[in-house]
Amino acid sequence: MNETLDIAITRADQSRLTVTDFSQLPFGKVFSDHMFLADYNNGEWTNLRVIPYGPVPMSPAISALHYGQAIFEGMKAYRQVGGKISVFRPEKNWERFNKSAYRMSMAAIPQDIFMQGIAALLEIDEKWIPSQEGYSLYIRPVMYATDPYLGVRASDSYTFALLTTPTGPYYSKALRVKIETEYTRADDGGVGYAKTAGNYARSLYPFAEAMKDGFDQLIWTDAATHEFIEEAGTANLIFVIDGKLVTPSVRSTVLDGVTRDTIIKLAKEAGIEVEERRVSVKEVIEGIENGRLTDAFAAGTAATVTPIGEIGYEGKLYTLPDASTRTVSAGIAKTLNDIRYGVIPDEFGWNW
Ligand code: COI
Repeated sequence: MNETLDIAITRADQSRLTVTDFSQLPFGKVFSDHMFLADYNNGEWTNLRVIPYGPVPMSPAISALHYGQAIFEGMKAYRQVGGKISVFRPEKNWERFNKSAYRMSMAAIPQDIFMQGIAALLEIDEKWIPSQEGYSLYIRPVMYATDPYLGVRASDSYTFALLTTPTGPYYSKALRVKIETEYTRADDGGVGYAKTAGNYARSLYPFAEAMKDGFDQLIWTDAATHEFIEEAGTANLIFVIDGKLVTPSVRSTVLDGVTRDTIIKLAKEAGIEVEERRVSVKEVIEGIENGRLTDAFAAGTAATVTPIGEIGYEGKLYTLPDASTRTVSAGIAKTLNDIRYGVIPDEFGWNW
């Protein structure tokens, strides 16, 4: 058994719970009363603390701001039907956080700091976990390089933080997405599989351009040919073609999504065939045209399971079957939610 870490707790003088409207919870705007912080200096993590949520003093010279050593994660805590609080597969997020850290030459975070930090924060901010159906407390781990030094090299010091924000789904309707064939999100040998700030920064301009044309999100294609579908940036992509679940395989340009992995396991258990492989744009467009593609959705922690309603490609808009006919994704989404909220037994041991 892991030893209990010494986490200093400083409580907020006044909770913001009473002035927070839980019926209006846009993603990532409202933060709970507290946050967890730890500092990495001289090769060790120190100063583990839960303090009131708020600004953190920092030098404008810190290397995260200049050279982008910044990584993050996303997971959710649920208030279950039986009253228990559960976090969904947090050890997967911890593993991926450290994969991102490794690729970005940052310090690794020990599992006990990650997990006990979450536990300490949830204990003190338990009342911030929403009880409405479809809602949860989104947990955002983040690490950034804090050396105030302008030379280009890996920082020696880091701050790790856990923030929490009560939220509903990231998307509130079926998506109109554009297959992007000009700009790229990630390149082979790059950092696409890491959850690092720059991947998101580089997507903002193409995304804003697509939004001007009425799209809600982009589907990124491979940098070399733009012929293969990768992911959506905020989520992975899953299609139903000939009744099978088809999803782009995880590679250096595609994030290894926890929700994606969960859905694949649930589908296999339900006897649905799953193909993880290269998925061409041609196959998807032809599948919509000839009716073999019956469902498509974004899968992510924030996005949960969000149906794709329309796909734009080379100036043409393709409409997918009505979301109400999508039995495969609806079934999987229900099972997933039922496990998270403790409605059905968690046979995989995913709830922590
Ligand atoms: C998540 O699903 O947790 C993410 O990190 C996506 C986010 C960029 C909205």
